[in-house]
Amino acid sequence: MPKETLTITDNRTGKTFELPIVNNTIHSTDLRQIKVKDDDFGMMTYDPAFMNTALCKSTITFIDGDKGILRYRGYPIEQLAEKCTYLEVAYLILHGELPTKEQLTSWTTDIKLHTFIHENVKLLMEGFRYDAHPMGMFVSTVAALSTFYPEAGNIFDAGTRWKQTLRLIGKVPTVAAFAYRHSKGMPYVYPDNELSFTGNFLNMMFRIGTVKYNPHPVLERALEILFILHADHELNCSTTAMRNVGSSHVDPYSATAAAAAALYGPLHGGANEAVLRMLDQIDSIDKVPEFIKTVKGGEGKLMGFGHRVYKNFDPRAQVIKKLADQVFEVTGRNPKLDIALELERIALQDEYFMKRKLYPNVDFYSGLIYQAMGFPLQMFPVLFAIPRTSGWIAHWQEMLQDPEQKIARPRQVYLGYDKRDFVPIQSRK
Ligand code: ACO
Repeated sequence: MPKETLTITDNRTGKTFELPIVNNTIHSTDLRQIKVKDDDFGMMTYDPAFMNTALCKSTITFIDGDKGILRYRGYPIEQLAEKCTYLEVAYLILHGELPTKEQLTSWTTDIKLHTFIHENVKLLMEGFRYDAHPMGMFVSTVAALSTFYPEAGNIFDAGTRWKQTLRLIGKVPTVAAFAYRHSKGMPYVYPDNELSFTGNFLNMMFRIGTVKYNPHPVLERALEILFILHADHELNCSTTAMRNVGSSHVDPYSATAAAAAALYGPLHGGANEAVLRMLDQIDSIDKVPEFIKTVKGGEGKLMGFGHRVYKNFDPRAQVIKKLADQVFEVTGRNPKLDIALELERIALQDEYFMKRKLYPNVDFYSGLIYQAMGFPLQMFPVLFAIPRTSGWIAHWQEMLQDPEQKIARPRQVYLGYDKRDFVPIQSRK
């Protein structure tokens, strides 16, 4: 039986070290015993951007990027997208098991009891400039929620944590819709809890003048699927931010705001907006080959292509592509779809993209669907943040209950000056 260890020889000293291997990893602090002199700090690993560092043990989401597999709590994303509602999936992500019928009913009711926001939160949102970006409003307002629920800082009480979980998942669609209405100068629409989670969100976004809003069932379902696909994705940039900030034991609203801020960036939650801007720039199908040529020449990227972990295909992109047809039957075809299809067709058989394993990611088609449904580009990262909130909270809870976790504090390789003496201002050159 082979030993589950790794033997390392330090050629500087000739010493050999045997480190235990657990779950196909070595513990980085085991490297600290590797030293040249006794008072050395000891060996570290250098891993900018965490390309090959496991930050935690987790049981929430499994990804095999080479095989294009994504599973929440063991269930394939394709099956969940076909058969579940978003709230059912949020329950699964948070609890580890799919809810029974009774559990789903009470979970859904609990969330609906927390969809309204304090009137002062509304007043706070009114203070933003008329043209404020809705994602900037979202990030700030979620952070401000911590001042409305000061008990949220009691993070080691399971009941308090649960209450904030309901509040966060229930309130983020309301904050998101209010941010949109503010940027349009339109009156806020309060939650209608007779509607589904996504139906109510569409109501708060788009209702004008009618007493009762009836969401189109195809669009309501499409949004459920998009929310399911975006609910979690293990240790992406924003979830890592949630865990890192949460590791300081701050309240969950502040940690969620930090995660949402990470999602705001164009390499993360802003990519589908970048896809639409790129399609606008290309303008027509006949200009696609020329555009591909410029990308291959190093002038910009083919947005919506490539992924840090998926090096075969992004399973979410495949679900979305099918969904696009159903949505366009209702909304009319997004005229940019033909450009996107042509880009995909050419890129998938082009040596440059094949060699680098670049395939369409979730963002390549999601923006086209959101736009066809009437969402403005600026709302795209906000639409991502609503469902990802359940994933962020699941990781936050897992992190807090993991006895191996401590405040996140990476190391650096210091390459600056050695000690030097202060120079008075009159002597400086
Ligand atoms: N278009 C053209 N070339 C690309 C693209 C692209 N979209 N993505 C990567 N490449 C090239 C790189 O230039 C590099 O080429 P080189 O080896 O000749 O230098 C090679 O492919 C490897 O790329 P990396 O940048 O090392 O890949 P990384 O894993 O760091 O980046 C990322 C992943 C950020 C997603 C990248 O593919 C990208 O910027 N894509 C476009 C933005 C996008 O769609 N983001 C959404 C991600 S999904 C999400 O967040 C929900």
